[in-house]
Amino acid sequence: PLVSMTEMLNKGKSEGYAVGQFNLNNLEFTQAILQAAEEEKSPVILGVSEGAARYMGGFKTVVKMVEGLLEDYKITVPVAIHLDHGSSFDKCKEAIDAGFTSVMIDASHDPFEENVAITSKVVEYAHAKGVSVEAELGTVGGQEDDVVADGVIYADAKECDELVKRTKIDCLAPALGSVHGPYKGEPKLGFAEMEEIGKLTGVPLVLHGGTGIPTKDIQRAVSLGTAKINVNTENQIASAKRVREVLAENPNMYDPRKYLGPARDAIKETVIGKMREFGSSGKA
Ligand code: G3H
Ligand code: ZN
Repeated sequence: PLVSMTEMLNKGKSEGYAVGQFNLNNLEFTQAILQAAEEEKSPVILGVSEGAARYMGGFKTVVKMVEGLLEDYKITVPVAIHLDHGSSFDKCKEAIDAGFTSVMIDASHDPFEENVAITSKVVEYAHAKGVSVEAELGTVGGQEDDVVADGVIYADAKECDELVKRTKIDCLAPALGSVHGPYKGEPKLGFAEMEEIGKLTGVPLVLHGGTGIPTKDIQRAVSLGTAKINVNTENQIASAKRVREVLAENPNMYDPRKYLGPARDAIKETVIGKMREFGSSGKA
């Protein structure tokens, strides 16, 4: 069931739901997300940032951990292992060579022509191996690992169209006001632009910064062609909250299984809620 994102996202776009990308931080996150997907009969994308991969040991460790769990848990639903915010061709290549089935090349901070050039190079390498590619235009706000943004710059529709046509990417993340990490106030997403970009490009759109976006906005984004929604912070908050509670109630507890087990359950509950909200439950 390790697959690229292409089929799951095209199906989501045509049937009107989004597949969640849930980021891995450690073993318990991976367990929780895979358990949630199997229970919900939902396709799932395991997002791995370069920082998280480094934390866990490296790309090879991540792939082998995921492969092990797919077997031990007898996972039957489609699962993609996706490099999140890949910073260079070399990083994307390294992930692909280690067994990732999908990569994001994030050259959104580069001038447009450079973004096209580096994204094309990644697509050429990835597609030859059946690996899917996501690219980004504009700036997602907030901070995620090494990716920091001061201002939010909306993606330009014409550039989006040109990037998709020239590079042949499988899906596109146009930054339209979403933010990594918690929102300060209500998110203000550019739905008019999203509609235009969805129509012009024809590819499934990706919404970064899924934490804290109200259900009505999620539904609207999905109706405009968003077929992938990335969530990380919400799972981190749920997991940290549970660890704090358990340790506060049990000041003498020291066995990590006793506090990380409950944290894992909290992540799983959060992921299940998102899968239902995104409409991917029962679609595997
Ligand atoms: O690429 C990952 C995401 O965009 C996660 O955003 O941490 O705000 O949920 P989030
Ligand atoms: Zn992101």
